[in-house]
Amino acid sequence: MKIFAYGIREDEEPSLKKWEQANPDVEVGFTNNTLTADSARMAEGSDGVVTLQTSDYTREALEVLHNLGIKYISIRNVGFDNFNFQDLNDFGFTLTNVPVYSPNAIAEHAVLLMGRLLRRTPEFAQKIEDGNFTWAPTIGKEYREQTVGVIGTGHIGRVTMQILKGFGCKIVAYDVYHNPEIEKQGLYVDTLEELYKQADIITLHVPLFDSNKHMINDKAIEQMKDGVYIINCARGELIDTDALIKGLDSGKVAGAGLDVIDNENSVFGKKWSSIDNIPNEKIRNLAKRLNVIVTPHSAFYTETAIHNMITTSFDSNKSLIEGLKPDNIVNTNK
Ligand code: NAD
Ligand code: COI
Repeated sequence: MKIFAYGIREDEEPSLKKWEQANPDVEVGFTNNTLTADSARMAEGSDGVVTLQTSDYTREALEVLHNLGIKYISIRNVGFDNFNFQDLNDFGFTLTNVPVYSPNAIAEHAVLLMGRLLRRTPEFAQKIEDGNFTWAPTIGKEYREQTVGVIGTGHIGRVTMQILKGFGCKIVAYDVYHNPEIEKQGLYVDTLEELYKQADIITLHVPLFDSNKHMINDKAIEQMKDGVYIINCARGELIDTDALIKGLDSGKVAGAGLDVIDNENSVFGKKWSSIDNIPNEKIRNLAKRLNVIVTPHSAFYTETAIHNMITTSFDSNKSLIEGLKPDNIVNTNK
């Protein structure tokens, strides 16, 4: 049996080596390249493909894999919004993800972004850089005074709530599906409007679908409290960046913590000579503000997460090749 993996980084190689040692019956090939129509040919002779990328998986790339006789694709991450399910099903692929590699990694990052905004750490860092070691006017706010609106109470949203509770925050939650544990605690509000009305901080933990693209738009921001903080560690396309910039300009939005931004692939994952040279005016605008913290889709990036992403994705791909049905199959071609 042979599995070919795309987008393998140096930091993943030790975990990959361990997996290979534990699975001597599987031949593993890999490349640092992402999966494109060109690189797809590298999987020739393989039974399955493991991959991770934030850019779209094109129909052309999937067609090449299909023509090589490959039926199984396992992504090493949670979100599968960069696949077109029609393409997957047209070519008969079965897709698995890694639904729970470490919700804590992302939840901790979201809560840190909140804390850094509340305590104005970018402003303090700038002051120190300028030789200004004074307090005023950089006064902070405390977690325990905040009502946090958690949108999406799945794996990551629930860990976020657990951590926030430890800090003494009041929590309100919204989800199309009501988790019984959260329901018991009486934390759900019925509508997003209600959450917007109550929350001092809003944090997004929902998958991206066509139906919720730009759910945070002018209208949503208008319904929020004055001085709201917005955190996005889910998907960039959930927020209309123009609306966010408008909200920040007017002061309606006091700050934002953004691990993901619409069209981030033009900037994230690459090294630029300076922030002034990044080729995306909106990301530049946001990243230069002291009340906005931008991180390069790195919320997931912990040692624990990387190890679990490799192990679960390869285990799943092997299971599919063996004719088993792991419970993390995500498309309808089950
Ligand atoms: P999950 O599937 O466990 O939870 C998602 C929750 O969102 C579910 O409870 C679902 O009912 C709810 N939901 C779906 N559509 C909704 C809608 N329109 N309105 C309200 N609720 C809705 O997923 P998760 O593991 O918590 O991950 C959430 C998202 O976080 C992923 O889909 C992915 O996009 C993102 N993510 C980001 C990173 C990162 O590094 N920044 C890492 C992992 C995941
Ligand atoms: C996910 O797991 O969905 C992420 O956003 C992490 C990223 C490496 C794609």
